[in-house]
Amino acid sequence: MDTNPVIEMLGRRLRLAVIGGGPGSFIGAMHRTAARLDDRYELVAGALSSNPERSRDAAIALGIEPDRAYGDAMTLLDTEAARSDGADVVAIMTPNDSHYAYAMAALDRGFDVICDKPITNTLDEAHEVLARVEETGLVFCLTHNYTGYPMVRQARAMVQDGLLGEIRLVQVEYVQGGKADENDPDPDQGVPWRYDPVRGGPSLVMGDIGTHAHNLVRFVTDLEVVEVAAEVGHIVPGRLVDDYAGALLRFDNGARGSFWVTQAAAGVENSVWFRVSGTRGSLEWLQERPTRLIFKPIDRPAELLTPDGPATLPLSARASRIVRGHPEGFHEGFANIYSDAAEAIAARRADLEPDPLATHFPDALDGVLGVRFVDAAMTSSRSNGAWTDATLDGRT
Ligand SMILES: NC(=O)c1ccc[n+]([C@@H]2O[C@H](COP(=O)([O-])OP(=O)(O)OC[C@H]3O[C@@H](n4cnc5c(N)ncnc54)[C@H](O)[C@@H]3O)[C@@H](O)[C@H]2O)c1
Repeated sequence: MDTNPVIEMLGRRLRLAVIGGGPGSFIGAMHRTAARLDDRYELVAGALSSNPERSRDAAIALGIEPDRAYGDAMTLLDTEAARSDGADVVAIMTPNDSHYAYAMAALDRGFDVICDKPITNTLDEAHEVLARVEETGLVFCLTHNYTGYPMVRQARAMVQDGLLGEIRLVQVEYVQGGKADENDPDPDQGVPWRYDPVRGGPSLVMGDIGTHAHNLVRFVTDLEVVEVAAEVGHIVPGRLVDDYAGALLRFDNGARGSFWVTQAAAGVENSVWFRVSGTRGSLEWLQERPTRLIFKPIDRPAELLTPDGPATLPLSARASRIVRGHPEGFHEGFANIYSDAAEAIAARRADLEPDPLATHFPDALDGVLGVRFVDAAMTSSRSNGAWTDATLDGRT
């Protein structure tokens, strides 16, 4: 990435406003770092907390000018929309129940949008966001950040180039241990938003990490889940929200899959893993070793693929920034999503076409399909794991 396509197209960086991600938020800092890594955005405005004073203080602490450090998100959207030098793009990283209202309000005011997952808590809301994106022609980027890793992009490119043959089997796991403790959440701290189904969505584990796992295998394989047979529930005694889900999957080309996500595996950190097997070979990737993609061809020894190493394909090459062997990880993967979205946004604003390789970031349709998958898995689980339609057409 030696050039800055945003500056080439617009003569300046994109002006970014952030909603959410204030003190205590892990992901807020990831978004802001991602926006800066390739110099395609400048952070100009923020509403970082639901508490007006904390919101303004947090924005000023980031170096945002006091008159653009807002006490609440709607004031930010209204004021920035009215400024001649207002924000171009709004990034939303608030609790899940507010994504819908802020995304719709941002689109209605002409902002391009970057939004964290899940897109919304309900399928109806997700469809409305998608419809508004299509009506307005604005860019909507959903930060399923695992799709930004160079070796995940390499896997997608290898599948697209036919190196695996026809995909037959797909396995995905997202295993964490952060909620293995029976005393989590701390009863003295009230109910955190994630544990409240109205705020966090119908399923804690599916909203938090199930949507990531679903999106990841769709991204790598270009296949859609058409049916799911699932159990979604809690494994920690007494817990009122879901902390694990297991499912078998049927894909639109006839491939079969397995899906396993939990936040209650004691001691496990952030184990995102997939294996995709086709008629000519298999690919395996583990997020905790993100620079290694293992390719097992049917007719020769396994190969270890690395960022920018031999056999790197163009989609992966553009996702890697530094000299071979220097580890790249979460920050860089997240930044790849932001940088590609920036290229698409700048191209839209300059009435140009973006580089086709910059168009692989997750969007509103991916968000709809993620919420649909959660819906179908939960419906299946309520029917004791019955095979359940997961397509948009088959929605009941
Ligand atoms: N992409 C990922 O890997 C990833 C990882 C973690 C969280 N997330 C997503 O990010 C979002 C936030 O999660 P989190 O872990 O940061 O939550 P959090 O509770 O740790 O932080 C939320 C932040 O948003 C602020 N906030 C709350 N309501 C607000 C409002 N109305 N206006 C402005 N600011 C508000 C809070 O003050 C806080 O700073 C969720 O949608 C979650 O699913 C994504």
